[in-house]
Amino acid sequence: MPKVLIADKMSAAATQVFKNRGVDVDVITGLSKEELIDIIADYDGLAVRSSTRPDAEIIAAAKNLKVIGRAGIGVDNIDIKASTDRGVVVMNTPFGNAVTTAEHAIAMLFSAARQIPSASTRTQNGEWPKSDFKGVELFNKTLGVIGCGNIGALVAERALGLKMKVIAFDPYLTPERAVKLGVEKVELDELFQRADAITLHTPLVESTKGIVSRARLGMTKKGVIIVNCARGGLVDEEALKDALEAGHVRAAALDVFAVEPAKEHPLFGTPNFIATPHLGASTLEAQENVAVQVAEQMADYLLTGA
Ligand code: MLT
Repeated sequence: MPKVLIADKMSAAATQVFKNRGVDVDVITGLSKEELIDIIADYDGLAVRSSTRPDAEIIAAAKNLKVIGRAGIGVDNIDIKASTDRGVVVMNTPFGNAVTTAEHAIAMLFSAARQIPSASTRTQNGEWPKSDFKGVELFNKTLGVIGCGNIGALVAERALGLKMKVIAFDPYLTPERAVKLGVEKVELDELFQRADAITLHTPLVESTKGIVSRARLGMTKKGVIIVNCARGGLVDEEALKDALEAGHVRAAALDVFAVEPAKEHPLFGTPNFIATPHLGASTLEAQENVAVQVAEQMADYLLTGA
């Protein structure tokens, strides 16, 4: 019977799926790297979210490991090269949390447009600061979507429902798909020049690192809104702070940061800045979906090699 270790907190549905499929499963979360190295050789599969970071040393100690499953989309916490070199398959769940993340991006867009977090805090402080908040409508505005894959497309669909115009940059977006989605495919610089709000839905790879750069922020319209619920490192955080302080960027809402957990950050306290702690995928539904999907996929692989 293959044996799997669930090393990060995830829905109990994953354990149940493994048991139902005849896969032996241990759930041991909060292990240090050394503790994981000590026990990993006992396992054929390792299921993680984002706290566990299987690196080359852990993978080298994993003598029997055949598969690492990430209950989520990004696999940036896993050393893919070390895994591939050892013949360990890495799998993710690209669909399970896409709706939840798209909904968070839309929530961040509204929060930024109307400064809801700050209005709420000040109201509850007894200030009644009615005259301090004048937001902007999203109706008729242009949303620039960077990365129009699973999540970007869901965001575009929702923005169109809000009667926004959607322009998208994505080298993999075909003209046919753009027409089907109802978005206008544009080049990156054009997106920065035309958008009233920009939302990011691309992985962090060499070509996307710092894609929201100081130079590109300089191309945007005054009053632009920036939302990032994808990956930290896509945005030049220092340049964003400067643009917010200069009043060029109206508001920015980041769910992800270059260094996480971001317990202190130069952007914290900047006017019109909203932060959430990488909550993009954090709903009951999404966490159940990704747990079930990762367990099913890992069980398929361990039991049938498919
Ligand atoms: C993902 O990659 O699925 C999301 O960023 C969610 C997460 O890491 O928790």
